[in-house]
Amino acid sequence: MSIKISALFKYVEHLHQGRPWGDLLDAGTGVKSLQWISTLETKSWTAITASETMAKSSRENFPGTMRDNDRLVIGNWVDEKMLEGEQFDTVLVDYLIGAIDGFAPYWQDLVFERLKPLVRDRIYVIGLEPYVPIVVQDEVGLFIGDLGRLRDSCLLLARERPYREYPSDWVVRHLQRAGFRVVEGKRFPIRFGQSFVDSQLHMCRQRIGRFQEHGMNADVASAMLQQVDAMAERGAKLIEKHQGLPFGQDYVIAAEPV
Ligand SMILES: C[S@@+](CC[C@H](N)C(=O)[O-])C[C@H]1O[C@@H](n2cnc3c(N)ncnc32)[C@H](O)[C@@H]1O
Repeated sequence: MSIKISALFKYVEHLHQGRPWGDLLDAGTGVKSLQWISTLETKSWTAITASETMAKSSRENFPGTMRDNDRLVIGNWVDEKMLEGEQFDTVLVDYLIGAIDGFAPYWQDLVFERLKPLVRDRIYVIGLEPYVPIVVQDEVGLFIGDLGRLRDSCLLLARERPYREYPSDWVVRHLQRAGFRVVEGKRFPIRFGQSFVDSQLHMCRQRIGRFQEHGMNADVASAMLQQVDAMAERGAKLIEKHQGLPFGQDYVIAAEPV
């Protein structure tokens, strides 16, 4: 299985500067972070997810075999007993903050306090700067915003909670409040591609398929599907015109317990 390491993970490797990865905690795991972790020289890894589906796909796409002391745990950070008394040399928080609203709504302000006693050496936080609709946007920005709004509408009508991203300055503030010293950080401009658009629209189609079981009028589902098709067409044209969809930024922040 060939693994593509993102620029964000490469930057984390650069920030780590040859120190040992030791016992590593992936606090919000998924296919990509676990694949990256498989390329590192860790003593052990522990990967946490609140989602059974995510655990299954992470396990299925994990290259190689897990060692006896590697763990994939389904649990929720609001559970105070989870990993109680344990410590990890390196803690990765990869797109966890944005996903918390789906599993522990309104609890984001406590996540770094919860993780602090588990961090022995370093914590790396990766996230997406939220889209801010009041900022004037070009046609690509408008499209990405419309795509996000369509996706979130479909999730809501299917009785699910959409993600809620938090900006890097919020993360820095909350790391400091929880007793971490921020060491370094960087923003990375994003260029979305066809696979991103496809994945978002796939998510829409799946959720629209559940509208009727939640008592929605069939016309709503049919109109939403037409909207999804229109977005697919609009996306394809923009990708061709701009060679991808350059919009928004990811960030990486490294911090250490004080
Ligand atoms: C966007 S996914 C992470 C992506 C992943 N790092 C990757 O590379 O594919 C967010 C992860 O955080 C987990 N998560 C969100 N809120 C959580 C909570 N309260 N407790 C435990 N895990 C949580 C989700 O279950 C999911 O595994």
